[in-house]
Amino acid sequence: MVEMEPLDNSCLQEEDMQKVPWFPKKISDLDKCANRVLMYGSDLDADHPGFKDNVYRKRRKYFADLAMAYKHGEPIPRIEFTEEEVKTWGVVYRELNKLYPSHACREYLKNLPLLSKYCECREDNIPQLEDVSRFLRERTGFTIRPVAGYLSPRDFLAGLAFRVFHCTQYVRHSSDPLYTPEPDTCHELLGHVPLLAEPSFAQFSQEIGLASLGASDDSIQKLATCYFFTVEFGLCKQEGQLRAYGAGLLSSISELKHALSGKSKIMPFDPKVTSKQECIITTFQDVYFVSDSFEEAKVKMREFAKTIKRPFTVRYNPYTQSVDVLKDTPSINSVVEELRHELDIVGDALNRLNKQLGV
Ligand SMILES: [Fe+2]
Repeated sequence: MVEMEPLDNSCLQEEDMQKVPWFPKKISDLDKCANRVLMYGSDLDADHPGFKDNVYRKRRKYFADLAMAYKHGEPIPRIEFTEEEVKTWGVVYRELNKLYPSHACREYLKNLPLLSKYCECREDNIPQLEDVSRFLRERTGFTIRPVAGYLSPRDFLAGLAFRVFHCTQYVRHSSDPLYTPEPDTCHELLGHVPLLAEPSFAQFSQEIGLASLGASDDSIQKLATCYFFTVEFGLCKQEGQLRAYGAGLLSSISELKHALSGKSKIMPFDPKVTSKQECIITTFQDVYFVSDSFEEAKVKMREFAKTIKRPFTVRYNPYTQSVDVLKDTPSINSVVEELRHELDIVGDALNRLNKQLGV
């Protein structure tokens, strides 16, 4: 075990810490930033398919108000979806399910049936976010928070640090079920949820979130771009074939086909390069980034995160669902103590195994 010299630089660090942008330290702090939405409910752009539909706008306001009133720890309100909403969802569900066997990555294909089994995810039923949140908690510790619209990248990534995924609950406009200019519940449920149920992917997502806490605007921009080209538009290679794991792809029939058509530009995922790529919202991406596995993507992101300028590092404490800021010797020592204990457990397990095997 490495013995550490005590450091006496606490004054300098306090000064450095004052320049750090505010960030949530515990999971309930998300109440302070989850309502800073960039677009709110019924404020639709003029080119939005629902812009001229007053009934739709009223419905969107209903969802926005529910999300804005939400507080950490409360159950997510159950929605009685209209016949029209279920019909729209049904079209998206049916068409995407035709593509998944040949286009989605293996982890997605493994977890999607669990959503049907545990959350009543069917062509004729939109799962309730509360049920999905409970399901994810059991699989990976992720939970869901309803959100009214787009959050700033800083606030959205902060949620990931606590294994909280912000989800919209409204359904896209019925005039064109296969198109939406913004994330809706079809995108969240069919795009994101199956992979959030995968431990290695959950870890990858959380690490991007942890790297973002207290980072500069420039670093946030880079992390958000890496998030965009992995969690939203990422590809991976499995048994020699390209497969999609990004939720933006797995919830868009046309872009999913395009990305794997052999005609799109594909580059290896490398955070240094990827973080400089332009994100395109209105049409297909110019380029997609491919990783061999989430493990590989995680290792690369971890290295990249170390280059982010911060006067401290953070560690998630799952017992208290809070973030420990490691900036002085006592805080680092407490981690060392925990690691000692974990190593003890490993040692004990190995001893018992060896005894069983008669080694
Ligand atoms: Fe998304």
